[in-house]
Amino acid sequence: MRQKFVIGNWKMHTTTAEASHLATAIAAGMGTDDRVTVAVCPPFPYLALVGDRLKGSRVALGAQNLYPAQEGAFTGEVSPTMLLDLGCQYVILGHSERRHTLGESDAFIHHKVRVALDAGLEVIFCIGETLAQRQADQTRTVLDRQLLQGLDGLSAAALTHLSIAYEPVWAIGGSGHHATPQQAQDAHAIIRHRFGQIFGARSAQTLMIHYGGSVNPEDADALLSRPGVDGGLIGGDSLKAEPFLAIVQAAIRQTQTPVEAA
Ligand code: 13P
Repeated sequence: MRQKFVIGNWKMHTTTAEASHLATAIAAGMGTDDRVTVAVCPPFPYLALVGDRLKGSRVALGAQNLYPAQEGAFTGEVSPTMLLDLGCQYVILGHSERRHTLGESDAFIHHKVRVALDAGLEVIFCIGETLAQRQADQTRTVLDRQLLQGLDGLSAAALTHLSIAYEPVWAIGGSGHHATPQQAQDAHAIIRHRFGQIFGARSAQTLMIHYGGSVNPEDADALLSRPGVDGGLIGGDSLKAEPFLAIVQAAIRQTQTPVEAA
């Protein structure tokens, strides 16, 4: 079984005090169970602070974005070298908010993925369709394009440092729409199947695919128990320790064998 993974994407939220408090509370509440990998991705300005608060805990540090160059005249941008320097292990790339609100293209995301992997970061690569695309029956085509163009030419070795987050845009951020566990499972199966066709069955077998559409403590068990749903990328419910830790607990429950759980 692939290990479950729970990631908190804090997006553009928290102050210095809130980031410090949240990271401290998550680190303290994690316990010692190491069957689930956990990471939090605060905004850039709080990476150092949060990294400090997480020291000695099982919670890894990730960033929400990067610019695909080591250094240079790129005003306002943050390089992979800087992220590593700050203790980041992970970076989220291709998030729908960057694709749709900030206009990032598949080609630009592809460049970022390559540079991040070359630098030694673990990439959480986000894909997903909008409501209009789903209603027009284009889900498969959109996922296919995002996979093909975003990951073009990557080696099997590089892909072992990449996981995918399926984020149906229509189910993100309190949109009022929720994907059912079956819809999540079906989309993950489409992604894994296509990934296998492109990169080989072996790569598809070890690929982790997380679900990221308003996961909360109430639906986490139902989602994470589905075959092929390897983790969750959590937005709103990662901004408070209690619901985030409850989702981590749900992930731990889903790693238990029936005998352990009985
Ligand atoms: P919400 O959990 O707030 O819907 O956000 C999902 C997401 O975009 C995580 O990256």
